[in-house]
Amino acid sequence: MYLSKPHPLQPNGEGVLVTGCSSGIGWATALHLARSGFTVFATVRKQSDANSLQQLHEPNLIPICPFDLTQRDQVLGIHDQISADLTKRGKSGLYAIVNNAGSGSIAPIELMDMDKFHVELQARLLGPIALLQSFLPLIREANGRIIWIVTPALITTPYVSSIHACDFAVNCLVRTLNMELKPWNIPNIMIRCGGIQTSASDRSNSELEAAYRNWPQERYALYSAALKKLQHEFAVFDQKRTPSEEVAKVVAQVLCASRPKPRRQVGHMSRIASLLECLPQELADNLIGMRR
Ligand SMILES: NC(=O)c1ccc[n+]([C@@H]2O[C@H](COP(=O)([O-])OP(=O)(O)OC[C@H]3O[C@@H](n4cnc5c(N)ncnc54)[C@H](OP(=O)(O)O)[C@@H]3O)[C@@H](O)[C@H]2O)c1
Repeated sequence: MYLSKPHPLQPNGEGVLVTGCSSGIGWATALHLARSGFTVFATVRKQSDANSLQQLHEPNLIPICPFDLTQRDQVLGIHDQISADLTKRGKSGLYAIVNNAGSGSIAPIELMDMDKFHVELQARLLGPIALLQSFLPLIREANGRIIWIVTPALITTPYVSSIHACDFAVNCLVRTLNMELKPWNIPNIMIRCGGIQTSASDRSNSELEAAYRNWPQERYALYSAALKKLQHEFAVFDQKRTPSEEVAKVVAQVLCASRPKPRRQVGHMSRIASLLECLPQELADNLIGMRR
């Protein structure tokens, strides 16, 4: 249980930095929070995405661009802009960071594209740590909190290990931060998403189809049946994904709760995944492995 000071349950312009707002969960979250009364600093990589956010004409929604988590200068460069904006609005400190940005790909570890994995590690781990280091003084000032959008983090699933490896690591970081930042009552909360409707699933599917053509064919042949089966299962799974607005609502609840729980579940299959996490690792791995 956190012994944090009472937090405002009614948002009154508190500043929230949300990463990855060009689409999907980030876009829905930025919009929902801005409409709920937070001041949202919504990061995007491309100017065209910043323009799209601008065109929503939400006075509390401020696009921050360019912001690529693989570019250290961009990650550190936004601090002064946001700090100045908060001061202009009469706010002391930044109330929250929502670490959302990220992408992932489907591949057996044997065939994983190492350049892509490197980018993913930067976007999901190194970038968010640099961001946190930069903004913690402002978060401390606002008696704020940090949210991490993840999959149910301790489940291993074949062929999506780059995503899950990051989530395992985020799980470790969050739990450690909850110990290290306890003296200042800065909770870190994981929002563990099951299947959420975003364009990410179509994109990973197209990338997988392209990878089939590029991988060494004799090695791809070793995995092709399993990967086709996985694609078929994903096609069924995709029909049942939860709208990203549901994640946005959970983020808002977590931001408004006086004592937020350190882990929340949302989305198709997230509860089952959470139950699997409670099992001994060997049993959970065997159960998941049986389906492959
Ligand atoms: N969808 C799900 O079922 C699901 C389930 C569990 C967890 N999640 C997690 O939720 C988060 C959002 O996913 P989503 O489904 O909403 O995907 P999405 O629609 O593809 O959104 C991903 C966002 O992250 C941004 N991004 C990617 N790499 C970046 C980088 N290096 N630096 C800065 N921004 C970057 C993208 O920007 P660009 O448009 O410029 O690429 C985009 O704005 C991800 O971390 C994902 O792992 C998703």
